[in-house]
Amino acid sequence: MSGAGAGIDIDSLMREMTLEEKVGQMSQLVGPKLTGPEGSADVERKIREGKAGSILNVRGEAARRLQEIAVEESRLGIPLVIGLDVIHGYETCFPIPLAMSCSWAPDEIENACRISGAEASRDGIAWTFTPMCDISRDPRWGRVAEGAGEDPYLGARISEAQVRGFQGSLDKPTDIAACVKHFALYGAVQAGREYYTTDMSRVQMMNEYLPPYRAAVDAGALTVMTSFNEFEGLPMTVHPYMLDTLLRGRMGFEGMLVTDYTAIKETVQHGTSPNLDDAALKAARAGVDMEMVSECFSTYLAAAVRDGRIDEAVVDRSCRRVLELKRRLGLFDNPYKYNRPEEIALNGSPESLAASRRLAAKSAVLLKNEGGILPVAQGLKIAVIGPLADQGNEMLGTWSIRPRTHAPVSLLQGLKERFGEQRVRFERGCGILESSDQLRKAALSLAKKSDVIVAAMGESAKMSGEGTSLADVRLSAPQRELLAELKSLGKPIVLVVMAGRPLVLEWESENVDAILYAWHLGSEAGRAIADLLSGDENPSGRLSMTFPRSVGQIPIYYNHKNSGRPAEDYAPYHNRRSQYMDIINAPLYYFGYGLSYSRISYSDLRIETGPSRITVSVTLRNDSGRDAMETVQLYIRDKAASITRPVAELKAFRQVEVAAGSAVRVDIPLEIKDMGFFGSDLSYRVEPGEFEIMVGPSADPRTLLKIACRVAEDS
Ligand code: GLC
Repeated sequence: MSGAGAGIDIDSLMREMTLEEKVGQMSQLVGPKLTGPEGSADVERKIREGKAGSILNVRGEAARRLQEIAVEESRLGIPLVIGLDVIHGYETCFPIPLAMSCSWAPDEIENACRISGAEASRDGIAWTFTPMCDISRDPRWGRVAEGAGEDPYLGARISEAQVRGFQGSLDKPTDIAACVKHFALYGAVQAGREYYTTDMSRVQMMNEYLPPYRAAVDAGALTVMTSFNEFEGLPMTVHPYMLDTLLRGRMGFEGMLVTDYTAIKETVQHGTSPNLDDAALKAARAGVDMEMVSECFSTYLAAAVRDGRIDEAVVDRSCRRVLELKRRLGLFDNPYKYNRPEEIALNGSPESLAASRRLAAKSAVLLKNEGGILPVAQGLKIAVIGPLADQGNEMLGTWSIRPRTHAPVSLLQGLKERFGEQRVRFERGCGILESSDQLRKAALSLAKKSDVIVAAMGESAKMSGEGTSLADVRLSAPQRELLAELKSLGKPIVLVVMAGRPLVLEWESENVDAILYAWHLGSEAGRAIADLLSGDENPSGRLSMTFPRSVGQIPIYYNHKNSGRPAEDYAPYHNRRSQYMDIINAPLYYFGYGLSYSRISYSDLRIETGPSRITVSVTLRNDSGRDAMETVQLYIRDKAASITRPVAELKAFRQVEVAAGSAVRVDIPLEIKDMGFFGSDLSYRVEPGEFEIMVGPSADPRTLLKIACRVAEDS
């Protein structure tokens, strides 16, 4: 293996490389599993010829084999960097990212990423395509499952935590490269339609969508991925302003920029290139360093350099970034650093599974608990009914990796373990998408003989994630019909919803006694839900996305503008106000909302304004018999500025333990520099004037304590 080795000198290596080999580093191929036998021979040949810098979707022994070909059989022996979507777990599966974001616990999310990255790093993986930083306000878009919800501040805190978790200090074999995706604005696809158009002002982009990407880049992410969508009439993958002026210039990103899957080729479909040759040139000029799968670079770039249509310096710049990524990962020192089969037995450890269970319990959100039906009293006969009750694999959610040693725990298994086989009986009642008279009759018969019904309904793992946009985001008709028949029995009903997105639950919210939103909670889902339903754990999850009352309200989000004719969220219709004739403005459940088994009240909000910081303090009182962990949320409103500002913006949150029957005083520092925004000239500023500071348990204006404050000219 010449050139590549300990303390690699990239300059001298590049001097040895041919133009084709430099272009080869800019090409990522898909692993043999997806290409089939003939494809894998082709992949191996290209690796031997130095025409591949990276392979995705390969792991284990197959990954090692491809690395051996690169290192031992190609002319320069440059190692591959192997990538995979390690989105929320590997052998240990954690809750889907949208669920994790409802824990409002960046440290626990960081730990989940650390465990996930460590497990993947033993099996050939050096690079994960995570975090997904796409803000989204539209549950019709199935990829909300992979993100951190609608808020720029919460999303930023979570994205940076994910980067820290996966990359650590990059000096351990368990540290792998993160990837900030999908740059940018993919979550704003119009009408929630997958791969579709996004368009907004650059002002809105800077204030409401960019913060999570920026936080992840600032956290040191080694790579960024371009998104499928267009913006301002250009596909992101060939957008010089976004990829160079903004990402490299203003955000200071110096790492390696990879496209999403075949995104260069797709620019021909978008209509900005007549052919793949032109598409390759535009992407290279815009700053793309590596092409995922579609091989336009490896087909056209060398010839374009030779006939002067693109400067070789563009290829050198990208090739260098790819080699630098490999150097940072230590692959030149030890190309097999990420192939540690002897450590695979460490994956899925009891400690990791316990971490998954703990985070899962913090990620579920209690939306309703009428008459204190929860926690379920001991000794009751429990009828578990619904198509998701015994489906452990569905609890893994989208972008999961099939576990080898630990079967995911279903709700039914979790309830039986916790309440005893004798107390828990199961009937499916219907399929997720299909009805059955026989199943329904059996379910109704069981329900009649039980004390409480736990209905397990929602979406399968495949119903959210990439390519799963929906126009109707309610429970499926068979599930709704079954629920209505169960309701007619007059028994208490606890609805447990497993889904990868917010569903519209208006009928359910009025007709069942309790709702626990359990998302897809991963390996230990059933046990975590049983921990919550039994009261062993006190629910603490808080929504990171607004839940619409109707799909007609979408996009609906808390940090909206006021308009010139505002209507209060619950105000009745007035034909000269910003509202609908047929529904109130209020969502079904607000951003930040979630119940617990305790009763926490907020009082005595005060502020102390210093030269650069406002110290906000509030008293929390727990007048229940249960200790609680409360997520105190701090919002601001800039009452008058050079551009319109949202009615509320989350700027800080604290998770506070409040013991049963006690009160605690909470101080939250608010830096004045964080109260600003990007103005119409896209410069960031804090403008003096009147602000409102609001503190409470959610973005619901009825629950927020408010206090006026003034930011002075010279702040
Ligand atoms: C997919 C996704 C992206 C993923 C990539 C590799 O199409 O858009 O999120 O990382 O391809 O699997």
